Parts: sequence; structure tokens; C-alpha cells
Amino acid sequence: MLLTSVVSVLLAASSTAWGNTATPSFDTASANGNGTSTFSGNVTNCPGYTLQNLSHNEHGITASLSLAGDACNAFGKDIANLTIEVVYETESRLHVHIYDTAKNQFTIPDTVVARPAPPTQSHTTTSDLEFSYDASPFAFWITRRSQPDAMPLFDTRTRSLPATPIASTPAGGSSVNLDGFELVFEDQYLQIASALPKGTNVYGLGEVIASSGFRRDIGADPGENGTLHAFWASDMGDPVDQSMYGSHPIYMEHRYDESTGTSSTNGVLLLSSNAMDVVLTTPPDSNVSLIEYRVIGGTLDFYFFAGPTAGSVIEQYGALIGYPLWQPAWGFGFHLCRWGYHNISETREVVKAMRAADIPLETQWNDIDLFQVFRDFTSDPVSFPGDEMREFIAELASNHQHYIPIVDAAVAVTANSTDVYDTYTSGVEQDVWIKNPDGSMYIGQVWPGYTGFPDWFAPNTEAWWTQAFQNWSDSGITFDGIWLDMNELSTFCFYSCGTGANLSDIQPYVGATSVEGWPECYNDTLSGKSGNMTVNGTSTNSCASGSDSSSIGPQKRMSIVNRNGRGVGAGDEPGVDLNSPPYAVHNSYGGLNLHTIATNATHAGGYAELDVHSMWGLMEEKATHHAVQTVLPGKRPFLISRSTFPSSGKWTGHWLGDNNSTWQNMYYSIQGILQFQLYQIPMVGPDTCGFNRNADEELCNRWMMMSAFVPFYRNHNTYGALSQEPYRWDSVANASRIAIAARYSMLPYWYTLFANSSTAGTPPVRALWYEFPNEPELFAVDKQWLIGSDILVTPVLEPGATTVDAIFPGRGNVTWRDWWTHAAVNATSGGTTTLPAPISTINAHIRDGSALLLHQEPAYTIYETRLGPYALLVSLSAAGGAFGTAYVDDGESYPPGDSRTLTFVANPGQFRIQSEGAYDVAQKLETITVLGVAQKPSGVSVQGRAVGNFTYLPATEELVLSNLGLDLNEGATVNWH
Ligand code: GLC
Repeated sequence: MLLTSVVSVLLAASSTAWGNTATPSFDTASANGNGTSTFSGNVTNCPGYTLQNLSHNEHGITASLSLAGDACNAFGKDIANLTIEVVYETESRLHVHIYDTAKNQFTIPDTVVARPAPPTQSHTTTSDLEFSYDASPFAFWITRRSQPDAMPLFDTRTRSLPATPIASTPAGGSSVNLDGFELVFEDQYLQIASALPKGTNVYGLGEVIASSGFRRDIGADPGENGTLHAFWASDMGDPVDQSMYGSHPIYMEHRYDESTGTSSTNGVLLLSSNAMDVVLTTPPDSNVSLIEYRVIGGTLDFYFFAGPTAGSVIEQYGALIGYPLWQPAWGFGFHLCRWGYHNISETREVVKAMRAADIPLETQWNDIDLFQVFRDFTSDPVSFPGDEMREFIAELASNHQHYIPIVDAAVAVTANSTDVYDTYTSGVEQDVWIKNPDGSMYIGQVWPGYTGFPDWFAPNTEAWWTQAFQNWSDSGITFDGIWLDMNELSTFCFYSCGTGANLSDIQPYVGATSVEGWPECYNDTLSGKSGNMTVNGTSTNSCASGSDSSSIGPQKRMSIVNRNGRGVGAGDEPGVDLNSPPYAVHNSYGGLNLHTIATNATHAGGYAELDVHSMWGLMEEKATHHAVQTVLPGKRPFLISRSTFPSSGKWTGHWLGDNNSTWQNMYYSIQGILQFQLYQIPMVGPDTCGFNRNADEELCNRWMMMSAFVPFYRNHNTYGALSQEPYRWDSVANASRIAIAARYSMLPYWYTLFANSSTAGTPPVRALWYEFPNEPELFAVDKQWLIGSDILVTPVLEPGATTVDAIFPGRGNVTWRDWWTHAAVNATSGGTTTLPAPISTINAHIRDGSALLLHQEPAYTIYETRLGPYALLVSLSAAGGAFGTAYVDDGESYPPGDSRTLTFVANPGQFRIQSEGAYDVAQKLETITVLGVAQKPSGVSVQGRAVGNFTYLPATEELVLSNLGLDLNEGATVNWH
């Protein structure tokens, strides 16, 4: 997959400044004719467009595009008149919007995704990005001003490229073959493609669990098929290579030039909520790869980010859509959940058992068991009585612990007036529901039976939703944060369940009572149903004994009620087929109306579900964020949600949904965490120990340790599966205590990384190549990750392992020191190093040149941990230097109040702390540990005063200064010689 110097010769196109035209070398040999496309066997000539009426302005250009020939009407009707607007928004961000001049097509309202204010100064001649075009047939390309001769970052002059074979066509999708590409802009189909350097490195385009890993399959190497990813929010569980909960049409491309050993990174966002397929492919015998967009509505609203590093691309994307919300410090604690804590006493018992096992529990959660007949904003009067819940949550609070309940997207409808459910009736009064095209309420079916769905476009919905949270809290569910589920929108009817249906007809969902399936190498037929690593002294690892691989069966899914569609008519948009758009996007369910509400469902303002579907989660997150702020004024809202869209990170964190208790899913969660850093939703994590199927001891041991090193740390389990709380197995309890203590000591570091994310969009978790962009052996690494720039995590992802292979970035020029022992690793340069990794351990390493602020005494809760003293861990570079910063504030106020920024700088023989800001840091810095001090110092001084009793450990070249009592509100200097 490595890009070679072929890049520079690929497109010898002179990349001229915008306003000029240039012809690329491959554009002239139009073997396939001009714009001939083959869709589903229908050969259609799409004529492309001609650019005219160009006008320049201070910030870019505007021009018209007119259809250059007879309409091809491939999947809808060609729109004859388009407008293109190019705006140089900043030095590193370029906006290219191609829209229908009549403005009939859907565009994302500013109220849903707020765009930045227009630029105040001109960037047209100074931006690192340049727009160029061909007028007829119209095509455009984007180059880097600093690399005028390089292949453009984005280049739509692709019409003469050979056909794009799509290796596989998921069920339900139409099969498509394209002979060449022309800009197609129809009311129900938009198509545009860009050439990419052959085999370049592409990341993003999710939410997805890609079988290729974090780096996407672009079809350039033998064995690669290319990628077809569909964007359409769907409750599919965690399928591989399919559309799933969130929709994030952004990619980041990393170009490495082997001949020079240099690289650069750029990003491209198509800001569209319309369903689309995006294809990554390398046509046979082609010297380029391609990205191709096929969108079934809206406009082509592209943003280009210059980077030139991964970190800066992600930051530039954040500057566009908004930086992530501020997290409360307690959000980094350990969260415990399951579906199947049937009542308050079971829930209390879990909290007690965690305490008895001395495993820190920060936040206890309840799933839909909490509800009365699965109705949002209720608690069951028998199993979770409001008064007892109030007491229980108050008890948690008095122990500095927290409580989070679930809220489902769907709201139960009641069948008769004796059935009192205020959330529903007040929703009817305030007219908050998504409608059918005829204006009647849209009815779906979820856990409580028949349901309605809030319409966030309706004027009263947010106030009604806020009131529901307030009433719920007043009734005893005094939550600290909120878990938003089923918001794709998920519903179990195919199409609408039907206006006029007998609403008492469907009963609430009854959970499965037993769950099948175990992790790889656990065979319950041989070993029973304990999940233990040993039974009667014998290992249960069936792979090691060669007796079996595993008993993983097909994933058990809830049954889906297949009701007929209600014969819905067309929606508001004239001539547009809302029910079955002509181009069939390859979404996971094989149809846009399946397992979600119908595409002709109608929102206030006349919006059709077809256009706004994938933004429902985002809109709910924003409304819920505001509601939580109303109920808990002055506090940072803590939200975790399933369905996300660009800018969701402003309002919520995310968990990776319904994974399985398998080793493979533990591995897949890493690419999920990395993806969501790019999507600017950095507070993310998996269901630790796995949701579907039964976990076993070994998997849960490894997973509890691994997740302690990712942002959102929650163990969650499905109904009926074997219990998997961390105290369930002794070894898991032990592993959890070790990992949580490490996590809590690292909290000041996590907190600083998240402050940088909320103020500058900097990703807290990073793929290894972000920090080492010129080491191609890292480009596909997704079994390890970096926390910030300084901590490298290498989990065990296989059963039966006692060692793990790690790659240490830096090719021998970086010293990595073991987090636990502080010993420097003797790493293989550019290759893998095998590390010991017995059960109940996890490998983590500190980069040299770093200085990390830590909590010295990790305690049971985050609150207690924060009350304790600080420590500093400094890992010197070979030259004796180190650098680090720490952001400190009260950990909960919103908006954040006073803060303090600490800067740590080491030079040979000296370590300095600078302190700036108004926040008063009460806790003292007690210990400074410096790694990499080659010889025992003969003298050490702190603030000019000699320190007599320091410790020096020659084996780890470690200088330890204890009981310092330093005031972090002031600077300090440490010297040694
Ligand atoms: C969905 C959620 C899962 C939850 C279940 C019951 O499957 O993804 O986390 O436990 O619903 O509410």
C-alpha cells in the first residue's frame, strides 16, 4: 500500500491558480468516450457541465454550471443549472459548494450543523490550498500551494479512467459499473470522483468496522478488494464493512513519498446527510486510485483541509464543525452497566460488590430495566421506586459516585385515556412528533410497543424534552449524565407500523433469557458455562488443547416485526421518489426503510426523513445536552450516545455499540476509537468485555485492562448473558484494580489532552503514524495506539498469549520506557519487539522527551483521587530534554472557570515548572521522577536549596525526589549535577 514516487509523475498537470484551466495528462486519452456511464445495465450518457459566468470576489469565486448536453436522467432528473461557490475560508480550509441554482435541493440547516462565520480577511492568495478547474467539461482539482507540482489532493478530472469494478454488492443494493466519471447532478443522484495516488493511505469514512482495519482498503494491492461504504445511520449492531450507527463522510489521506522519505496529510469532508455510497478503488491497470461519491440527494458541499499533519487535519476539521464538549473529570472514571439489573436491590448489590472487591466504581448505570414497561422518563414503581432511587443516587453522590440512566429515542404511545403517560400526552399537546406525509403521527415499534419519535425540527420539542428530563429528575431519577440509545432511529417495523393500527396490539419487548456464543477458544460444551480460565485445574483454552476452536454461532438478533408498509404516498418534494429512491444505496439492511422509520416520514418545516435521517441522533444530542444543562445548571453535561453525525462531539461522547464478547471485537474497538478522534467525538470506548454473547475470564481480564487506556471506560453486557462485572472472576478483579489505578494516576494527562481537544480539536488518542508520519511500517498499525504523544499502549488481543509483539515508533531514535518498571526497551528499529505479557498485565510505554503530571495516589473515586497529591514523571531524551504541559481546573464547572496551565521543561541537569493562570491548585507536587539520568547525581537542589535524600536507581537511570511539597501555583526549578 505504500505510495512511491510514482505520485509525482502521475499527474504532470500544471496546477495553476484558480481561475485558470489546465489539462492533466490522463484527461486527453478518453478511450471510453466522454462521460459514458453504465448503471445497472442501463447505458446512459451523462453530459457533464460547462462552467460560465465566473466572477471573482475577495474570498474566492462564483460561477454557473450548465448541463453540457442532453440530460442522462440516470437515477433522477439532471438539474440543468448549478452554481459553484469556492470560498477560501482560512489559510488551511477551502470550501467548494456545488448546488442547484434554484436551491430546491436539501441543504443542512445552520441550526443543525452551525458553520463558522464567513472569513473577514482574504485568503485567496495565501491559503495553502488552491482551486483550479477545467471549464468544459467542468472538472476541478485542489492542490497545495506549497507543492505545486505534486499530484492534486483532490482531482475530479477522472472521466477517462477505466471502469470501476465493485468487488461485491451487498444484498439489496443495485450493481453498478461505471465507465469513466463525469459530474452528475440530479435531484436524486449526485456523482463525483477524485483521483488519488495509487495505494495511498486513507482513513475515516465511517462509522464502520472495516475488515481492513483503521486504514481503509483502496484496492491497490493483491488481495485487496477496494471499499464500498454506505452512509445511512442504522441500528445493525456491530457489522463488519457495513453502514452502522453514525454517519461521518470525512476522510483523511496520508501521502508518503518513498523517494524522499517525506509525507503530508490532508482531509476531505462531504458535508451531506443524504444517503450515499463512497467507493475506494483502484481500477485495473490504472496508475491512480479513486474515491467516488454517489449521493442520493442534497448538494455537493465539500470542505478541504490542508493539514499537513494528521493532527492539524483533525484540528482544522474541528474548527469547522465545532470542538468537542468539555468533559467532567468524573467522566473518566470506570462506568458499570448491564441490561438485566432487574431492580434497585440488584443494582445496589453491584455497587456494594464493587466496593467489597475494592474495584473503583465511578458511575453506576441502568438500562431499560429501569423503566415502567420500557417507557422513557419513568421508573418502574415496583422494581425501581422513585423514592428509593432518589435515596440510592444520593448515597452514590455522598460517596462521590455517579448515576447514569438510559433514554431511548422512541416514546411509547398509549392506547387509551386510562393509561397515563405524561411524556406521550404532553408530546401530543405540544405537537412534537414526526409525521406521515398526510400529517398523522408516524408510528413505529420499539421496546415499549408502539411508539412515536420526537421531531427536533418542531418548535416545541426541545422544551418538551427538557421538561421530561426535569420531571424525571424530580421523580427521583436524579441523574448525573445521560445515555442516549436507539437514535438511528431504530424501529422494529419495516416501514411505518401503520396509521390506524390497533395500538394495543403490540406488547412490550421480552428479552432473551439465554445467550449463546463464547469468545474464540472457549468451548462451553467441553468446559461448562463458567467462562473460567481453568476448570478443575485444567485450562479451558480449547485452541491450545487443539480440541476445538470455539462455539461462536451466528449472532442472535431480536426478531423484527415485518409489517407491511402503509402505502404511503409521495412527500412534499414534487417529483421525488421518497419511498424508493432510484439509486439503491448499499446500506447494511439493504433498504433505507428497514429497521428505521420510513424515508417519507415528515418533519416540521417540510423536511423529509430521506434527507435528514442520519442527523436525528445529532439533533437529539444537542437537545439533551441543553436539557441536562437546565436540570444540572453550571455542570458539564456527560452524555454517551449511539448515533452520531459531524458536530455530535460538541454535545456528546459515544460508545461503539453492540459488539460481541470476542477477541476480534476487542481488536476492532481500537479502530473505532481512532476513527472517532478524527470525527471529533474523542470521548469514546467499547462495551468492555463485550455486549452480545458470553464473555469468559481471559477475554474480560484483557479487555478490562485495555479499556483502562481508552477515553470512555464502561463494562456493559446484554440481557441474559453471563455476568461480567470485574469482580466476577478473581483474576479480572485483580487486573481491573491494577489497570484502574494506572488510569486514575494518568488522569491529569487525560484531562489535559481533553482540554486541548475542547479548545483546539487536538485528538487525545492517536494512531502511531500521527506522531511518526514518515515511518510507513506504522501506517496500518491499529493494534496499538498512543495516548497523546507520550504513552504507547500495546494490549494483548488473543487468547492464550503470554507475550505480545509491539512496534516501537521512532526507528531506534526514541527511547521507550516501561510504564510499570521504568526500564528502557531494547526495541527493534522499524520492526516488532516481543514483550512479556502474562495475564493481568498490559504493556504501556512512555516516550522519551516527555513530562507527565500524574496523581500520586489513585483512589476509589475520581474525587478522592483529585484530593491527593501530584507526582511528575519525566522521561528524558538522549539529549537530556523533556517537555510537557498540564491543564488544571475544578473538573466540573460549565462554562469552565479559572484554570491553570503548567509547563514542564527539562534541559540537561535541570527541570523547570512554569505556572500560569488563576485557578488555585490546592494539591502539592510531592514527587518528581526523572528517567534517563545516566549517572547518580552528586548533588540535587530544588528552588536553590540542596536536597539531601534523593533516590537514584541505576538500573532504570531513575532519579526520584520525594516529599517535595511544591506549590503548583508557583514555578519551580530542580537542578542536579
Ligand atoms: C441496545 C443498546 C444496548 C442496550 C439495549 C437495551 O441494543 O445498544 O446497549 O443494552 O439496547 O436497552
